[in-house]
Amino acid sequence: MTVGERLHGAAAELKRRGVPEAQANAEILLARVLGVGRNEVFLRRGRELSPRESAAFSRLIRRRLRRIPMAHILGVQAFLDFELAAGPQALIPRPETEELAAAAMDALRQRREEPLRLWDLGTGTGCLAVALARFFPKASVLATDKSPAALGLARRNARANGVGARVHLRRDDFFAPRRGPRAWADLAVSNPPYIPSGSMPRLMPEVLREPRLALDGGKTGLDALAAVIERAAEALRPAGVAALEFGRGQARRVSALLLRRGFERVRILKDAQGLQRIALAAKSGANPARCRPLRVAR
Ligand SMILES: C[S@@+](CC[C@H](N)C(=O)[O-])C[C@H]1O[C@@H](n2cnc3c(N)ncnc32)[C@H](O)[C@@H]1O
Repeated sequence: MTVGERLHGAAAELKRRGVPEAQANAEILLARVLGVGRNEVFLRRGRELSPRESAAFSRLIRRRLRRIPMAHILGVQAFLDFELAAGPQALIPRPETEELAAAAMDALRQRREEPLRLWDLGTGTGCLAVALARFFPKASVLATDKSPAALGLARRNARANGVGARVHLRRDDFFAPRRGPRAWADLAVSNPPYIPSGSMPRLMPEVLREPRLALDGGKTGLDALAAVIERAAEALRPAGVAALEFGRGQARRVSALLLRRGFERVRILKDAQGLQRIALAAKSGANPARCRPLRVAR
């Protein structure tokens, strides 16, 4: 069978079985098998697939039909301008988290060359920690997570992206009674689990293959956010910035939690879809200009 015929058949099968973005998925998986870019698949549509290529493509399509996420099948996920290894150990980084990273970078842009101390709480793949370490060349980033598997993936990603020496990975629980040093961090960034437990069964099949620890935010969805805000309030220096991602409809309650923990100048930013998804706030003493987001959709 030719590349074009196989592509057509696979895309139709994915679509018939309700897999989202069936055509794009089939193209990307076939490109992987052929070892070419996605655009080149179309250019080769007349060429015959070898039996080995055909079998490899069938294996990938069968995995996608089982609703295994594309990032797990491919083993990689792009984040901003770099790539991360992805897998079932940690949440697949999402586009709105790229916006959180951009907002955090903008908040401290004027201090870019300083030896900043940054904390990524719940690092997962390490996407935020790696992005921040790449953007702030003299910064030291503490990246913590409760999941040892996630920490292993984050370590691999930090090394692969050339920031392994400045991203310090440590196991830590948002809810641990132990308290670390106070007032040491210039930035606390976090995308904690924030989905209300009752909404978990309604998630897409692909999302349900991701770690529950990364998603489930307890009854109201705010358990981890509240704990992270408490930890950030202790860890941040005066003028330090908290940058947090949260779920739909949680903006008002997240703002209230921040104000209650002594944060000022709480700013709620919208994601590319116009939804309120990011909070920026400053510990007292912060210069408001430092909290001005530049690249986030309003
Ligand atoms: C929504 S994921 C975010 C991962 C990554 N920062 C990102 O943005 O893609 C939340 C992360 O918090 C971690 N986590 C969940 N509960 C935790 C807890 N109690 N203490 C520490 N980390 C926790 C999960 O393992 C997961 O890696």
